[in-house]
Amino acid sequence: MERNLKELISKMTLEEKAGMCSGLDFWKLKSVERLGIPSVMVSDGPHGLRKQEEKADHLGMNGSIEAVCFPPACLSACSFDRELMKEFGEVIGKEAQANDIAVVLGPAVNIKRSPLCGRNFEYYSEDPYLAGESAAAFIGGVQSRHVGTSIKHFAANNQEFNRMSNSSEVDERSLREIYFPAFETAVKKSQPYTVMCSYNRINGTYASEYPWLLTDILRKEWGFEGYVISDWGAVNDRVSALKAGMDLEMPSTGGVSDKELIKAVEDGILDETVLDRAVERILRISFLYTDNKKEQDFTLESDHDFARYVAEQSMVLLKNENVLPLKTDEKIAFIGGFARTPRFQGGGSSHINNFRISSALEAVSNMEQISGNVIYAEGFSTTGDVWDEALAAEAIEAAGKADKAVIFAGLPESFESESYDRTHMRLPDCQNRLIAEIIKVQPNTIVVLHNGSPVEMPWLSGIKGLLEAYLGGQAVGEAEVNLLYGKVNPSGKLAETIPCKLTDTSSYLTFGDSEKTVYSEGVFVGYRYYDAREMEVSFPFGHGLSYTNFAYSNLKLSKKELTEQDTLTVSVDITNTGSVAGKEIVQLYVRDNTGACRRPDKELKGYEKIALEPGETRTVTMTLDYRSFAWYHTGLKDWYAASGLYDILIGASSRDIRLSEAVEMHSAVQLPLKLDLNTTLDELLSDERTKEYGEYLTEKMYTFFGGYESDGALSDDMNHALVASMPIRNLAAFGACTKEEVLDGLNKLVENTRRNQYV
Ligand code: BGC
Repeated sequence: MERNLKELISKMTLEEKAGMCSGLDFWKLKSVERLGIPSVMVSDGPHGLRKQEEKADHLGMNGSIEAVCFPPACLSACSFDRELMKEFGEVIGKEAQANDIAVVLGPAVNIKRSPLCGRNFEYYSEDPYLAGESAAAFIGGVQSRHVGTSIKHFAANNQEFNRMSNSSEVDERSLREIYFPAFETAVKKSQPYTVMCSYNRINGTYASEYPWLLTDILRKEWGFEGYVISDWGAVNDRVSALKAGMDLEMPSTGGVSDKELIKAVEDGILDETVLDRAVERILRISFLYTDNKKEQDFTLESDHDFARYVAEQSMVLLKNENVLPLKTDEKIAFIGGFARTPRFQGGGSSHINNFRISSALEAVSNMEQISGNVIYAEGFSTTGDVWDEALAAEAIEAAGKADKAVIFAGLPESFESESYDRTHMRLPDCQNRLIAEIIKVQPNTIVVLHNGSPVEMPWLSGIKGLLEAYLGGQAVGEAEVNLLYGKVNPSGKLAETIPCKLTDTSSYLTFGDSEKTVYSEGVFVGYRYYDAREMEVSFPFGHGLSYTNFAYSNLKLSKKELTEQDTLTVSVDITNTGSVAGKEIVQLYVRDNTGACRRPDKELKGYEKIALEPGETRTVTMTLDYRSFAWYHTGLKDWYAASGLYDILIGASSRDIRLSEAVEMHSAVQLPLKLDLNTTLDELLSDERTKEYGEYLTEKMYTFFGGYESDGALSDDMNHALVASMPIRNLAAFGACTKEEVLDGLNKLVENTRRNQYV
């Protein structure tokens, strides 16, 4: 239905318009009945509905309706499957429609800067490309049901400690390359109905009142068309926020901030058209929902099955030394409280009131062939860190008597949640100790991990199998059993690196600072850091095993050379060389060999997941463009890929590169010149446009210092290096030539380059 919103808004009073820009209550927007403007409701969250009908809160403290708890993003991202993420979005959209929810508050796409962030379980990845692709697909799915999404938390919200006031001190290149792209990709590909601005400050300015962030970048550069919503309580100054582009404040402020807006308009501090603009954005989205509302057909039961499917497609088999899959006739000891009471979701605003839960124990008890062969020993409790001698002894005995032991380990609920960060990266000591004891009596030990974020694994070399279940949603147990017994072939891969220890992480020395957190590692986050430092990790980004094997061959590039206008098509053949059907995630990384700037060793720029029958070969095709090769040049204020050689790397993980080919970029993009008395000789020499003048001045300098040879001790290279970093003002200061001479040459260069639009 076509609506004339401008006309509608012209009929609204100032009070009604100000009121439209803040919540009616915790979850609803206001209505204006006389004008037919309905009140719509928003609700958490990304992996299931947390619709609160009675007491409300934003931290998951009060109850919500019974719903399906799907796997949180820490797990679903490991599917590397755009189709699955889209379908996931459709299912959430359907449930939301049926429950009268206009906007689902998710997905959450913040980058995992440190494994300690309490909310990592809700975030996709340490890699911006993967996070962006996953989010774009999910949003497309939800919105295909005419239910909105709220991609969050924009931006640089990477720790929970002091999240409502801390300032993330991040340089622009890192924002552009690491912390923004997930939002950028989602906006450009899927146009989320809303964007949620984060609580934190960015370089001193609250995200909620940052015009550069919410208007210049989000709207002008990326073309965002929906409305910006505040995180719950993220508004510091309502008038500045509205001016910056923060349209809807949530939750209700009981009219306080509405009055501030009204007064600002009356006092002439706020232009009424700014208010009208925000109201128009909000109404457009609300009507998009109400005008397209349809009956939805779904059952919680069938969505439970879908939750299991997502988990099966995402859990990551990290290690397998011929112990998995388990055989139905083997005697298996299931050990650990998480086998009976699995941990399957995180705490806080995304906490779902799941209508059902399946544990691994319950799942095997429903499988006739297996149930008689599985014994269970609790070993440790799932709620804390207490060594219980009797429980441990029983578990060790059970493990020793079985053919194999599967230990269901994990982080207790209190260890990780929204609102606070972890203080260490360890499992509870009691669990580490029990695993170490069991390895002594049982050579075929397998660990299944339940955690929202990586843990240190002191027992890794002693176990034979390891399944990273992350937080599996309410069908966790069924998915685990199906994967352990090979009913489903594992196909997830890690969306983050598992470092060996906390002190290896790039943000170790700055993470969790209280007022300002300095992102001193720059773009070197996750594998970008471990690769640059050539560090050992427990498991690299992109790693994940299958019960079959895949061979990579026949890498082809559509071109050997390209310009900034071109796209490059990359194809590779993948063959299933094993005896069971399986799925492989093929990854494409780009390595910059131009030396134009300090960059990560490689960066993910493409991936595809394909299903292959035994013996089958299929060709995977991926497309790259100039941006795939580029980094953000703050001088140019744009993306820049220098001319020169790049490697296209095709891998089964970031550290298992199977094939590579070089490609040459010929970029006509000219970098801006910085020409003044502090320009160095080297800067002049390394740019074609100024090289001649650089050579002239260098010659002068050498001559002044007594010629190239000196006493024969200095090589040309060394001579060059000695003067390279010298600002050209020094030539005059040392007396190699007059200041006028330097200035004259400089002016001519500036003149010339200006004529050619270089400066
Ligand atoms: C969280 C958001 C959430 C909101 C509403 C906030 O505390 O940061 O992610 O959507 O509460 O529950």
